[in-house]
Amino acid sequence: MYPTREEAIRILNESEKMNPGPWKKHSLFTAECAEKITKKIEGMDSEKAYILGLLHDIGRRFGVKHLGHVLDGYNYMNSLGYDEMARICLTHSFSTKDINTYIGKFDITIEEVEMLKTELSKLEYDDYDRLIQLCDCLASPNGVVNMIDRMNDVETRYNMYPENKRQMNLKLKEYFEVKTGQNIYEITSDDKVLWGK
Ligand SMILES: [Fe+2]
Repeated sequence: MYPTREEAIRILNESEKMNPGPWKKHSLFTAECAEKITKKIEGMDSEKAYILGLLHDIGRRFGVKHLGHVLDGYNYMNSLGYDEMARICLTHSFSTKDINTYIGKFDITIEEVEMLKTELSKLEYDDYDRLIQLCDCLASPNGVVNMIDRMNDVETRYNMYPENKRQMNLKLKEYFEVKTGQNIYEITSDDKVLWGK
């Protein structure tokens, strides 16, 4: 289960009021990217993709947190009965399925980390998990950016970027380029400088 587009927009707007920040715009661009990419893929639902992109960071409504936003989003969406949305709140940060690759503070308890690990290990990633992981990398609060620049920027700010995570994110781009038969930047961005990168 996941919310309707209208309900998702309502939740996002309400949440941004609770914790204002650039994360709302980032969420909107993530959703747009996901919608545009899935429109090119037969068998994927672009409405579902938009909604999953829109609320992937919804844990941020509960304040400025690092790994805490994953846990908060997961618990909040589950509390509303939106299990498919809760799943994305969990999987979007772990393209390699490894919690230890999280870039940022582990601001939750050891028991909570263990719970997230257990839940992650039960999942077999599907194309919606992969799609939102990719779109999360592509979407800045100002629009689609070069993934490599974005990863380098994160590396500079946090002084680390796990190499396996970097390679996995690049693989996700290739994966969806094979599926769509098109360059991902060409699908998601009007900035022709990015096309072909
Ligand atoms: Fe995000």
